[in-house]
Amino acid sequence: MTDYRMLREQLKSLIEGVPYQTANLANASALIWKELENLNWAGFYLVRSGSLVLGPFQGKPACIRIPWGRGVCGTAAATGLTQRVENVHDFPGHIACDCASNSEIVVPIRFEGRVAAVLDLDSPLFSRFTEEDQAGLEGFAAVLEEFWGSMS
Ligand code: SME
Repeated sequence: MTDYRMLREQLKSLIEGVPYQTANLANASALIWKELENLNWAGFYLVRSGSLVLGPFQGKPACIRIPWGRGVCGTAAATGLTQRVENVHDFPGHIACDCASNSEIVVPIRFEGRVAAVLDLDSPLFSRFTEEDQAGLEGFAAVLEEFWGSMS
């Protein structure tokens, strides 16, 4: 079981005082990659001109642009709600970037009332992400939201 409280503290200490979004999101994805088991992809898609564009990540190369509302990431962005998917093959419109992925969680990151990015984690295991993971990752995203306005 991941210690999400410690993960949040580690993230804060990494990004506090660092004004660079790319650096902070790269470190955030590396931290998740190091601390969570059974992942095959962890990273960010950023809202750019009404669609999602690949941001810093760990894992295999991934699709660059995701239309708003499409796939798990696009659905999280359009609804503003975390998508926790036990079996991605059952998710309508799922975009398969890495065929090893079987479950996925996508958490929106908001800034000034709008979704600014999503945090996306993929796993080769079915039902990898529990309600505890969802709460922990939403807390992790909340740290990024807190610092979002001070990075560019
Ligand atoms: N599976 C995602 C696409 C991004 S990759 O998983 C990195 C989706 O359906 O939105």
